[in-house]
Amino acid sequence: MSPAIISVETKEDISQNLIIKPPASRLSLHGNIRIPGDKSISHRALMLGALSEGETKIQGLLLGEDPRSTASCFQAMGAEISPLNTELVTVRGIGLGNLTEPVDILNAGNSGTTLRLMLGILASHPSRFFTVTGDGSLRSRPMSRVVKPLLEMGAEIWGRKGNSLAPLAIQGKSLKPIHYHSPIASAQVKSCILLAGLMTEGKTTVTEPALSRDHSERMLRAFGAELSVDPSTKSVTVTGGAKLQGQTVIVPGDISSAAFWLVAGAIVPGSELVVENVGVNPTRTGILEALAMMGADIQQENQREVAGEPVADLRVRYAGTGSVTALKGCTISGDIIPRLIDEIPILAVAAVFAQGTTIIKDAEELRVKESDRITVMAQQLGKMGAKITELPDGMEITGGTPLTGADVDSFTDHRIAMSLAIAALNATGTTNIQRAEAASISYPDFITTLETVCK
Ligand code: S3P
Repeated sequence: MSPAIISVETKEDISQNLIIKPPASRLSLHGNIRIPGDKSISHRALMLGALSEGETKIQGLLLGEDPRSTASCFQAMGAEISPLNTELVTVRGIGLGNLTEPVDILNAGNSGTTLRLMLGILASHPSRFFTVTGDGSLRSRPMSRVVKPLLEMGAEIWGRKGNSLAPLAIQGKSLKPIHYHSPIASAQVKSCILLAGLMTEGKTTVTEPALSRDHSERMLRAFGAELSVDPSTKSVTVTGGAKLQGQTVIVPGDISSAAFWLVAGAIVPGSELVVENVGVNPTRTGILEALAMMGADIQQENQREVAGEPVADLRVRYAGTGSVTALKGCTISGDIIPRLIDEIPILAVAAVFAQGTTIIKDAEELRVKESDRITVMAQQLGKMGAKITELPDGMEITGGTPLTGADVDSFTDHRIAMSLAIAALNATGTTNIQRAEAASISYPDFITTLETVCK
């Protein structure tokens, strides 16, 4: 029997080492892959379901740790949510403005989306007091980006370091509408303010410097909120006071999870993979454009619209001849960045295996994700022999140097764990990824799928 390519060691502290040992004979990846539900849409479906009247049925919910954090917070405030053990989850909402005051601290775990979006909801619920916290990573991530506009709306929020770090305490109250010009293109900031605006009399507007993902806008409309979008000024306005009504939400596969297989298929010689049922909302498809610029062979098949979101199957074939890659470096910067922000770690892996230099700029946001993704990716891929120079707002990657397996660490960041695993498939020798269990934040079956496609 040939030795296992993929193995997992669970340590005493229940963290996991993912060990990847590609065979000396060539590895190539084949098969059809079904990825988990979109994380952004899953959070929003749970939240809007909880704030609606009647029942919301969510089909294809991501059963990862982050949506579980959202579900447990809203259960603690009165929403009835069926157990998150099948992909069909029902939420019995309690109606806008009716959240009950939780008797304990709300814990958002590792999830920035849970905490930031929820803050808008809590701050606008009068006469209730809330405390919110998260894990070590989340407690170090900046909350001022949402606290500041909420304070402008009249919210009462307290926290460490000038109200910028969780744990935070919130005294809910009636807010006043604002027009907020966000200095960053962030769907979390935009959504937080829109959610606060739902409960605020009058028109609340957010203008962004570049368009970020628009799942909140699509879903708020579907649930009955009064919303207008002005693409020419990148502004969204919500008029407070509408009632939300429970809906059926069909969650497409997460393009951010698909990205690992798209890059794996593009860099591992001889591979061909089909990633099925991928959400291809244009505010999320920057990764497809960036990989196309690099010369990847990715086709969108079976394009369709499912419950208000565009969906397709994505076929990726190895880009190259024999073991000579056809991928080439490129520059990724400007307005495309918010449309591929979560895919930059895996894009860095593609760049390592491309010919020439890739420059990623305007992505300083990466420094305040679940880890500092610029430093962590440069250091960890660097241990495998990659040539990456950190820039204040991105990285410069010189591709074409073969990688060698090494001891690396995810820094408990799900996207780092999975990106390193894909890099390891194309390295010589054994890679040991510490704290790889982080993948379950957004992709609980990642390792199982990895084993399947490597067979
Ligand atoms: C998300 C928005 C993005 C993204 C995060 C999910 C969302 O964050 O990185 O993983 O669901 O709104 P920012 O809005 O802070 O860029």
